[in-house]
Amino acid sequence: MGLREFIKEYFLSFWDYETPKVMVVKNRTLGVIYRGVQFLVITYFIWYVFISQKAYQESENRPESSVYTLMKGTAVHGDDILDTVEYAQPSEGGDVISTILRREVTYDQRHGTCAEYFKVANANCTTDSDCIKGEVDFDGHGRRTGKCIQYYNHTFKTCEIQTWCPIEEYAVVREPALVEAINFTVFIRNSIHFPRFKVLRGNIKDASNKRDMHRYLSRCRYDEDKEPYCPNFRLGYIADQARENFSELCRTGGVIGVFINWNCNLDLDPSYCKPTYSFRRLDLRKDQASSGYYYRFAKYYSKDGVETRTLIKAYGIRLDVIVHGHAGKFSPIPTIISTVTAMTSVGICTIICDWIMLTFIDKNEIYSERKFDEIIKEPPVPLPTELSYISSFGSNHSDLSDGVPL
Ligand SMILES: *[C@@H]1O[C@H](CO)[C@@H](O)[C@H](O)[C@H]1NC(C)=O
Ligand SMILES: *[C@@H]1O[C@H](CO)[C@@H](O)[C@H](O)[C@H]1NC(C)=O
Ligand SMILES: *[C@@H]1O[C@H](CO)[C@@H](O)[C@H](O)[C@H]1NC(C)=O
Ligand SMILES: *[C@@H]1O[C@H](CO)[C@@H](O)[C@H](O)[C@H]1NC(C)=O
Ligand SMILES: *[C@@H]1O[C@H](CO)[C@@H](O)[C@H](O)[C@H]1NC(C)=O
Repeated sequence: MGLREFIKEYFLSFWDYETPKVMVVKNRTLGVIYRGVQFLVITYFIWYVFISQKAYQESENRPESSVYTLMKGTAVHGDDILDTVEYAQPSEGGDVISTILRREVTYDQRHGTCAEYFKVANANCTTDSDCIKGEVDFDGHGRRTGKCIQYYNHTFKTCEIQTWCPIEEYAVVREPALVEAINFTVFIRNSIHFPRFKVLRGNIKDASNKRDMHRYLSRCRYDEDKEPYCPNFRLGYIADQARENFSELCRTGGVIGVFINWNCNLDLDPSYCKPTYSFRRLDLRKDQASSGYYYRFAKYYSKDGVETRTLIKAYGIRLDVIVHGHAGKFSPIPTIISTVTAMTSVGICTIICDWIMLTFIDKNEIYSERKFDEIIKEPPVPLPTELSYISSFGSNHSDLSDGVPL
């Protein structure tokens, strides 16, 4: 068939009016299939609307949420006692809180001139002419003075720079990890509000007796099965749940997400609306070079009237508390919409059965002959290309208007 004829035929059939006609097929197999499919589709929709998706409910996915965190624990470091002020940051606990697990300390740095770190590009030198005065390398530590000097007590030479001296790479003292931190706890208080439903919930169980509650909160440790209402999380527990090795975390530091999930069915009593917790590492995987978590800070003091500082590079575990919430409550409009959608979708049974009928059962093309009728009011004009067409089900039909009683 030429393209022109095809387009012409298509164009002509486009202007045909199609209307469904009810055809009763007395076929037991087809009847059984039809009822079976109908049963499956209806069951699926009931399950989907009322059980899985609760589509009869009005829902809200963005609760207002507030998080307060507090780190607890004490570590002994040689003769020093480290308390939360030393290792927890920031001291005002929001939804991000970190604790130091290991420190690299550079003591007594002061402004002056000293040798640049030898791994910095062009820092190695043999004479003063190798060093350009006033040059600042952002990967280095300071401004070059133009001199080539001995690298501290080593035998080789590097360019001299003006900076806080001595440089960290040379003078750093690496402290052992704070292994006690595995038993530190973080207290996480979370309250959420669903404004549409005016429901306010918190992750700490209400108690009538304040004193007992206080004692409970200071002692308990969260455990999914045994203590689901306790808001104190052991860092070791968090690392375990995030499937991280704590000694590895002490070495590189890391960021762990604490996910609080609220899934509330407000058709039930609000007391059934309780959080679940999950934990996952958020920085890149530990096998990648850029993963881990550390930051630097300095403590400043005056020594012999000169401003001096202790530089601390702190590797730690940072907890990002992320709250997700969903609440649903029965409402007539979503119920009607879902029901209508479900009922309309039952029409899929007819499509499936038609397809089965025309493809597998209709061997002699009896049904398809009856199913697609073309009715032409005027006596048929002998135009063969217009009188036959290929139906959407792939059967070949001629004009049946003579054979079928109207
Ligand atoms: C500078 O010299 C030191 C000691 O000879 C060497 O270890 C280092 O790799 C050199 N740095 C560069 C950037 O080549
Ligand atoms: C440089 O001095 C430090 C202590 O001041 C010492 O530990 C180190 O071994 C010395 N290095 C060399 C190459 O002498
Ligand atoms: C952590 O606490 C447990 C039990 O309280 C104790 O057995 C363990 O030794 C502690 N771990 C560290 C590193 O202090
Ligand atoms: C944790 O990592 C350390 C070294 O990084 C290793 O010695 C230890 O076996 C690891 N522990 C587990 C439980 O994988
Ligand atoms: C369709 O039917 C007509 C006549 O009934 C026949 O000439 C034609 O070859 C058929 N076409 C196909 C594709 O079966």
